[in-house]
Amino acid sequence: MVYPVQGKPPVTQMRVHPHLPNVDEARRAFSWDSVARELAWLPGGALNMAHECIDRHVLPGKDKLALIWEGKSGEEERYTFAQLKAETDRFADILTGLGVKKGDRVFLFLERVPELYFAFFGALKMGGIVGPLFSAFGPDPVKDRLLDSGAAVLVSQPDLLQRIQGILGDLPDLKHIIVVDRSPGAARPPRPQPDPRELHYEQLAKAAVTTFQTTRTSKDDYAVMHYTSGTTGKPKGAVHRHFAIVQQHATGKWVLDLHPDDIYWCTADPGWVTGTSYGMLAPWSLGVTQVILQGGFSPRAWYAAIQKHKVTVWYTAPTAVRMLMKSGDELAARYDLSSLRHINSVGEPLNPEAVMWGVKVFKQPIHDNWWQTETGAIMIANYASMPVRPGSMGKPTPGVEAAVIDQNGKPLPPGAEGDLAIRPGWPSMFQAYWNNPERYASRFQNGWYITGDRARVDKDGYFWFVGRADDVINSAGHLIGPFEVESVLVEHPAVAEAAVIGKPDPLAMEIVKAFVALKDGYQPSDELRHSIMQHARARLQSLAPRELEFRPSLPKTRSGKIMRRLLKAQELGLPLGDTSTLEE
Ligand code: PRX
Repeated sequence: MVYPVQGKPPVTQMRVHPHLPNVDEARRAFSWDSVARELAWLPGGALNMAHECIDRHVLPGKDKLALIWEGKSGEEERYTFAQLKAETDRFADILTGLGVKKGDRVFLFLERVPELYFAFFGALKMGGIVGPLFSAFGPDPVKDRLLDSGAAVLVSQPDLLQRIQGILGDLPDLKHIIVVDRSPGAARPPRPQPDPRELHYEQLAKAAVTTFQTTRTSKDDYAVMHYTSGTTGKPKGAVHRHFAIVQQHATGKWVLDLHPDDIYWCTADPGWVTGTSYGMLAPWSLGVTQVILQGGFSPRAWYAAIQKHKVTVWYTAPTAVRMLMKSGDELAARYDLSSLRHINSVGEPLNPEAVMWGVKVFKQPIHDNWWQTETGAIMIANYASMPVRPGSMGKPTPGVEAAVIDQNGKPLPPGAEGDLAIRPGWPSMFQAYWNNPERYASRFQNGWYITGDRARVDKDGYFWFVGRADDVINSAGHLIGPFEVESVLVEHPAVAEAAVIGKPDPLAMEIVKAFVALKDGYQPSDELRHSIMQHARARLQSLAPRELEFRPSLPKTRSGKIMRRLLKAQELGLPLGDTSTLEE
């Protein structure tokens, strides 16, 4: 998607930025060592993200508020850094007591409840590798990720366990399931047979102590993993080390413009990398108070939360902004949103209209920035101290060398479209795809990390997103791998073959559209469409297709590979391009 807006005047509501007065200058004279020295570290040169985010902010006589949590029914809980230290120590003690060891994978399949945050940092404290999963996943995505990572522990909730009951028996490496039940008396359908590995968090918590000596992990020890999708195969577990906190900390200051007295809200779920790097790690490494809402998107609830908690810095996503635009300026005008000082967005292209809408409704532009699961932290951004060019992702941060390159790794001149690439070696760079060294190696070519995005740079060094170089679908900022969806579709008894594409959508950027060819003896019908869609929803939940089209057969290469590219071109009414490798 290209936005032809380079000629538009910039939005010039820049502010003096005490942390980063001039991005271009800061980039020229920069070393990561100076940022690394801002962290507390542990004795002997050890580094643990949990220590940086929680323990070091517990200061005698100054117990600062760390978390303001709002539940789905509006109930509120507040935790200071000292309380978070106690709760995360407790979780680390529980895990150690269960025999969980350094390097074991601890996966979290939880809604945004406080225990998600206790478990995340508790696992880091005992040296575990944490993998948060999106709570809207269906059983198949959860199973794929738990199996591939060989997770030893799953922390979940009764309703979510009910949803994935059918896969628990297929996970031989899983030793413990810790069940967090926030409403133990609630009436819910009885589960046929709780899994024998289930343990109750409440009981474990009662028996655990609230002091724990944080493990002296090395800066390169693995800390966090997030599964992310490619064109082929199942999702890959991108693994980050404790040292990533250096860059998350720095970008929290430079890009989010966080200051000690800010009230910060990141709307992303920790099941996706933004909700972890910027919904936990960056803000708490800076000792900032965070607001977390358990509930999902709702214009009223969101505006009310900004007003009630006097949110000053807000990090959200283009789809959410477009949905707020749709809900109308009159609704926004009913709330006092004047506390907002700085607004950021990530995950998809932020269209210029959305940037300008921010100026109208929030009296300031929305600042777009770019990064990926693999990069672990923001790499390219519009800064508070820099004119925003609506439609551009901004400029690389200090310490990041980004370029638009040709197939031989040669940087292209301004205006030319090419592969967006980053020079390897930044602190939050992913260290592995779990159990997949070949795939990891394939992302590095000619001395560059190849992002998989196509982009352009203008003559002033601003980067402009053009599109993906692969078949990965971006729906509301969530990447979806076509293979993960297709492999579920072909398990329906009537489906012979299936292909999915991202169909452009005015709100969500893309939605998943499926093309299906039926087995002999089956005829297309509304009933069959419904049956296939139901099957996909039950297995995939949030990743399921929104549209389904029957085709007598799907276009294939001579070697039998389904050509999603062609289906997409047909869907968009574009020229079909090179079809010479198509089946006759
Ligand atoms: O295609 C780019 C798109 O989202 C991809 C990364 O997705 P994920 O690993 O899930 O991480 C999402 C949040 C960090 C990128 O390769 N993307 C991300 N930010 C932008 C974007 N596309 C255009 N503009 C952006 N600002």
